[in-house]
Amino acid sequence: MKFFLDTANLDEIREAAALGLIDGVTTNPSLVAKEGGVDFKQHVAAICEIVAGDVSAEVTSLDLEGMLREGREYASVAKNVVVKCPLTMDGLKATRQLTSEGIRVNVTLCFSAAQAILAAKAGAAYISPFLGRLDDTGQNGLELLADIVEIYRNYEWKTEVLAASIRSPVHVIEAARIGADVATMPFKVMEQLIKHPLTDKGLEQFLADWRKGGR
Ligand code: E4P
Repeated sequence: MKFFLDTANLDEIREAAALGLIDGVTTNPSLVAKEGGVDFKQHVAAICEIVAGDVSAEVTSLDLEGMLREGREYASVAKNVVVKCPLTMDGLKATRQLTSEGIRVNVTLCFSAAQAILAAKAGAAYISPFLGRLDDTGQNGLELLADIVEIYRNYEWKTEVLAASIRSPVHVIEAARIGADVATMPFKVMEQLIKHPLTDKGLEQFLADWRKGGR
């Protein structure tokens, strides 16, 4: 399972990269906006210098022409840029076109298995079901993830299943159990994966005992 960091914050990306734990980065317009008035393409280029793996850059146009223009522009920033298109009619058309030009696309904002089937048929490199946001509506994001993984395996579709909108370590563990290809998570969740109170307590005890031994 690959780990992507779901952020546009360069400090977080540098820290996670230094840990050696991340295989890529996903950004979205809200995450980029949090970084202040950065130049988007320069910012994506800066991320791509830190991370060798796939870096998702999302289009903000709603129409096909705009998505194609942005997609081509972002893809020219670095080889590891993956263009993110929304799961709309034009988003699927853009996915098919960009894919045919050799530009990889991450289809985002997926909330149903039907949508995921369409993304795979459009040739997406990644499909991003949003677990947390679906949970927020009273539906089960992990059930959706399991459905998509099962369907994709039936046909050996190459589109990778990228579990997104991850809110907790449980989402990561369950996504791994289900067999998602990738989990993209906020830096906070990555930290939560590392930490365990019994590790801290055990370490404290070991060191206290060590000192008692006169060292
Ligand atoms: C995925 O690529 C998205 O950036 C992200 O996972 C959205 O998550 P959120 O629901 O926490 O905003």
